[in-house]
Amino acid sequence: MKTLLALNWKMNKTPSEARSWAHELSEKYEPVPGVELAVMAPALSLSVLAANLPAGVGFGGQDVSEHESGAYTGEISAAMLADVGARYVVIGHSERREYHLETDAQVAAKAQRAQANGLTPIVCVGEKLDVREAGKQVPFTLAQLRASLAGVGEDLVVAYEPVWAIGTGKTATAQDAEEMAAEIRETLRELYGEGASEIRVLYGGSVKPDNIAEICGQPNVNGALVGGASLKVPDVLGMNDAL
Ligand code: G3H
Repeated sequence: MKTLLALNWKMNKTPSEARSWAHELSEKYEPVPGVELAVMAPALSLSVLAANLPAGVGFGGQDVSEHESGAYTGEISAAMLADVGARYVVIGHSERREYHLETDAQVAAKAQRAQANGLTPIVCVGEKLDVREAGKQVPFTLAQLRASLAGVGEDLVVAYEPVWAIGTGKTATAQDAEEMAAEIRETLRELYGEGASEIRVLYGGSVKPDNIAEICGQPNVNGALVGGASLKVPDVLGMNDAL
């Protein structure tokens, strides 16, 4: 199974900026054996990425509707993402859960819809600071995981992102990441049996070129979901090369 370096641009870059970024990446990118690179971009930039990314670099959306099609103004369907060539879609990111009040049930419905359209969902889970301070991060995250995966098949990626480490510069230690990834793996085994060993568990939260190797070197961590450090090509190359 390849290590997945998943970039999440969040609400950054116009389509023109996405084109420049993809051109800059194409000039300097060398694939690393055993590492897969994929860019989760705003929907408007996905066609630009399809046309301009180096061969082998995948891309995906940052959210998807739980509905197949119809009167849902402003929404993007899984079929639309698949049609432009997306491989992945991030679902249930903590920013969607926080600012758009997405529930675990919606996350599960979105992940099912993504899979029905041939996309691999990257399902995000993770605790807030008060939960961590109360020492309840494991039961909280595993309950969120189970609820977010209700009815979801095993072609998925899980991203553990402690909310207190996102965009704050505070990274969980590699041991914290491994501890939770191992718990997540155990739950995936209960849900999917042997197939669980093929499901990649990513860590996200202030990952950068200088900490990615240690985090992704943990036995149960199979890659990273990177926000801030995904915006500049030199940082992305630094992370790719460090893996
Ligand atoms: O999706 C990415 C995560 O929210 C991490 O963001 O790398 O800026 O902390 P960050």
